[in-house]
Amino acid sequence: MCTSNAVMTGKVVIVTGANTGIGFEIAKSLAKRGAKVILACRNEETACIARDKIIAQTNNSAVIFKPLDLASLKSVRAFCQDIIETEDKLDILVNNAGIASSSNTYTEDGIIELMQVNHFAPFLLTLLLMPLLKKQPSRILNTSSILHYLGAVDLVNLNKKSCNDVKCYMNSKLCNVLFTAELARRLRETEVVVNAIHPGIVNTGISNNLNVLYATFFKIWCWFCQRSVLEAAQTFIHLSVTDEGASVSGKYFVDCSERFMSWNVNEKVGRELFDLSIKMVKYDGVGLSGLCSDKFAI
Ligand SMILES: NC(=O)c1ccc[n+]([C@@H]2O[C@H](COP(=O)([O-])OP(=O)(O)OC[C@H]3O[C@@H](n4cnc5c(N)ncnc54)[C@H](OP(=O)(O)O)[C@@H]3O)[C@@H](O)[C@H]2O)c1
Repeated sequence: MCTSNAVMTGKVVIVTGANTGIGFEIAKSLAKRGAKVILACRNEETACIARDKIIAQTNNSAVIFKPLDLASLKSVRAFCQDIIETEDKLDILVNNAGIASSSNTYTEDGIIELMQVNHFAPFLLTLLLMPLLKKQPSRILNTSSILHYLGAVDLVNLNKKSCNDVKCYMNSKLCNVLFTAELARRLRETEVVVNAIHPGIVNTGISNNLNVLYATFFKIWCWFCQRSVLEAAQTFIHLSVTDEGASVSGKYFVDCSERFMSWNVNEKVGRELFDLSIKMVKYDGVGLSGLCSDKFAI
């Protein structure tokens, strides 16, 4: 558990997928400490219920909902435009939303849905919000998974349909760690830090659309080592409020401490994935100025 009692009054936080599961608990915990929390969710009805619950349970009325559907890059752009127009700063961005199915369908953007929701859309979201993040020291928290150790990134086939949701999920979670390490390299001369987190195994809705075999395997796994959403939120809180969370960048955390990343994480693949992601999301560089040190300039 995060042992810090630090308050977050005056801080502005975005949590994607905050209407349920681990994201809800992260948003509630940060609201409890006084932060202004923006719930970035695709389902207005469940997001408003979550917002009202958090306000009632924390007595913090600075909790708001903004629509964000990561399966649509148009929605990502509209969300970021809204945030840039309405917020003066952004202290913490929590890329939490994720899915473990839909490795066999393309979004309107022509990207495999699982890869878009888990990697490409958070990638674009992060870059578009960079001007706000760079206004002051800030922290980006990317939600990966222990399963990233079993992932492999084949850049040529990254956007090919797959019949195996779990394999695609593992690859997307490896992308989260590769992105974290590469972004940290590109941000090393700034006061923006970025880290990846495995929250632990939690019996949330993440397994809802898995096939029977994988869903059963997940339930058995949960039976052995499941934790609560409150426990799963602790590493996010730790990296949001502690001095360590402000000083370490490009690392992978579990249970509030740094752990080694997959041996598949290396600078060459990280750079290639970053460049490929820029092309896939048709990022035009707006908001990027000053993001990269000369050595890593795009
Ligand atoms: N649970 C675990 O054991 C575990 C382990 C390791 C890592 N993780 C990671 O933890 C994160 C949270 O997962 P969870 O377990 O809390 O699962 P969850 O309860 O299913 O929550 C996932 C969240 O992502 C949102 N989401 C899905 N597709 C979206 C889209 N297109 N646009 C915007 N939001 C979208 C969901 O919104 P809706 O409610 O509208 O669907 C929901 O709020 C994920 O990144 C997951 O990979 C989970």
